[in-house]
Amino acid sequence: MAVRKLTEDVFSVGAIDWDRKMFDDLIPLPDGTSYNSYVIMGSDKTALIDTVEPNKKEEFLNNLKALNLKKIDYIISNHAEQDHSGSIPDVLKLYPMAKVVTNAKCKSFLKEFLLLKDEDFIEIKDGEELPLGGKTLKFIFTPWVHWPETMSTYLIEDKILFSCDFFGSHRATSHLFVEDEHRVIVDAKRYYAEIMMPFRVSIRKNMEKLEQYNINYIAPSHGPVYQNPKIILDAYRNWISEDVEKKVLIPYISMHGSTKRIVEYLTDKFVDEGIEVIPINLSVADVGQIAMELVDAAGVIFATPYVLAGAHPLVVSTAYFANALRPKVKVVSIVASYGWGGVGVKQIQGMLPNIKAELVEPLLIKGYPKAEDFKKLDKFSKVFSDKIKKGGAL
Ligand code: FEO
Repeated sequence: MAVRKLTEDVFSVGAIDWDRKMFDDLIPLPDGTSYNSYVIMGSDKTALIDTVEPNKKEEFLNNLKALNLKKIDYIISNHAEQDHSGSIPDVLKLYPMAKVVTNAKCKSFLKEFLLLKDEDFIEIKDGEELPLGGKTLKFIFTPWVHWPETMSTYLIEDKILFSCDFFGSHRATSHLFVEDEHRVIVDAKRYYAEIMMPFRVSIRKNMEKLEQYNINYIAPSHGPVYQNPKIILDAYRNWISEDVEKKVLIPYISMHGSTKRIVEYLTDKFVDEGIEVIPINLSVADVGQIAMELVDAAGVIFATPYVLAGAHPLVVSTAYFANALRPKVKVVSIVASYGWGGVGVKQIQGMLPNIKAELVEPLLIKGYPKAEDFKKLDKFSKVFSDKIKKGGAL
């Protein structure tokens, strides 16, 4: 990756990870990702914003060398997670006079994760400014996007917000700036869904805090730089609002076809009601897609066969994941198919304490659905649809 100029004396020096396919060994990265880092050259001081995942440090350090920097005075650490902080020790080796500039909480994390010492740091407070000579950094604490220590750094003269994970997207691209606005919002929605969604109340406060700033560029630490920040700010406003779409997500597994028949029948019923429905077969699903749909779905129905006297483990893990994401869904239920017994419905029901949704009485069907079961499904889908229509964004 070459060094790229963002504005006068501001350069992108991070690394593109074209090959990475998973994050946290949980989230698929169908389009790779990038770890963005930026150099800001003032007339007196030079600052580096964040670093890169350690396995990309060679490329990153070569970028720094290509800039022929005589020194780096400050390494600004907006977030302690290692995909941004992990190469700080290598930068300190190359530029031993540099100090890591961050907040108290991030400092404590970096000491734990990277074995840095107190003397490596300059600790800053919320709202503090750091002059570089003709360029001034202002630190804006934006906690819980998505860790407690996260902050953003605003370059006052150039009106650039370096937001780290906040507003980021996973995509490996050689473009510095957003080229395809529709695509970046889809990428950013997936990213928001996977790690930001549980913290939307905090994000709301952080968004309010950012309103006083005139922002020309948002330069996150994953994905391209926004030259038109309005598109991502508007998208986030929508995602963090309480509004939902008239949409029902049905994550399901079917072992012998009974649950599949139930899901197909429900799918048709929702189509008839004019409600968008998204059945997702968990045996081939991408968890990122499930998370994305949960950003604005009005309803979720977990559909499972019974196996080993309980719900199918893939449905269990999806219920766990959905609960952890704390989506704003308004209506939830469970449909299950069993052969001889078990406790799958209660099991799933007990796994959703964080989902503050109305529960439609779950439906348990023995074996392949029969005429009387289809009548029950008619009633179930009608009750569910009516609630979606009342609770959705109509
Ligand atoms: Fe991109 Fe939370 O790290």
